Amino acid sequence: MKMELEPLQQSMLDGEHGKATQKAMQILNTLGTIYGAEEMIPVTSVQVAGVSYANLGEAGLQFLSEMADGGGRARVLTTLNPAGMDMENWQALGIPQDFARNQERVLEAFGRMQVITTCSCTPYLFGNTPHFGEHIAWAESSAVCYANAVLGARTNREGGPSALAASLTGFTPAYGMHLEENRRPTLTIEVEAEMPENHHFGALGKCIGEKLEGRGKRPVPYITGIRSASMENLKSFCASIATYGGTALFHIPGITPEAERYAPPDERITIGQAEIDTTIQNINDPAEEVDFVSLGCPHLSIREIARIAELLEGKKVTKEFWITTARPTKQIADRAGYTQVIEEAGAKFAADTCCVVAPIKGRFKTLVTDSAKACYYGCAKNDFKIIFKAFDEVVLEATK
Ligand code: F3S
Repeated sequence: MKMELEPLQQSMLDGEHGKATQKAMQILNTLGTIYGAEEMIPVTSVQVAGVSYANLGEAGLQFLSEMADGGGRARVLTTLNPAGMDMENWQALGIPQDFARNQERVLEAFGRMQVITTCSCTPYLFGNTPHFGEHIAWAESSAVCYANAVLGARTNREGGPSALAASLTGFTPAYGMHLEENRRPTLTIEVEAEMPENHHFGALGKCIGEKLEGRGKRPVPYITGIRSASMENLKSFCASIATYGGTALFHIPGITPEAERYAPPDERITIGQAEIDTTIQNINDPAEEVDFVSLGCPHLSIREIARIAELLEGKKVTKEFWITTARPTKQIADRAGYTQVIEEAGAKFAADTCCVVAPIKGRFKTLVTDSAKACYYGCAKNDFKIIFKAFDEVVLEATK
């Protein structure tokens, strides 16, 4: 079925707004046709993924350069996912110079398109913060899940090119998570477990995600039994359930804003304490000597950085310890004095990047983290052995 395009959208497709806008509208038009969208809708916010040169390579960089040369300009607030390095402090993190040069070329191309070149997977923590019901186009699975479930905004899981296309046109095809009928819960997950820490939420995300795998059309879980969850718990959970189950939306009564619209679906699955504890145990590789510690997947909040500073005050770390966060959050940490305490202990800020998208394969053997998502990719992408612990214990591990 062909999509109905409004005159502005048609003129973009016809090339009246330049080559890059035309290419962008072609991408969206094809996507909309594939997914059976009837129309395009305006978006107010975009998050573009595929920023690390390690993932983009020369072909990806060439695509970005062509879009910038073709006059592509962001029409709505647009931010970026993590890059392959700290854009200011890459030398201290051991990033090779040729990689740094190429990563700078990537950001330069985005900058020419008037994209805000903050590089973070938590754009909702520093101003790219859509409100309830807002239609947006975000890539980065953890942020997509957070936007849909926790903020009640509406976005599909965009790829890098489709998110950029939405930015350059201000539109996205109306299908999937943009439509009310696809946001209804499809099964109930009853949680009977105490979950005080991020890594418990990460383990729960893995448990649920794996149960949802293979169910065809992505289900929307309605999760009961969770009485409280901090923003940090939820960002950890979103990253995990999106990684292990491809989930873009869930509802938790009393916590997420759309839950009250729905009754719990009849089909029920229960997850108990033993399953959470076993999942944590199973993620861990048998006792390995840790040589790499990383917190900040998804990127750390200022509250989490404050806690690291509290735990490291007057201590010295004995291992490479990366603290990954957004540049604006790091700037708050600088002003609050947390950066000084953390750096005096010997830990390193890795703003703009993370332990998954940085080119560090082969540099370390064993990663300790509190993030179930970092465990998945640390193993799958970087061949690390994994130790998965509570946040405070991870910091402690760095000082042993
Ligand atoms: Fe963010 Fe990197 Fe984790 S992009 S969610 S810190 S893998």
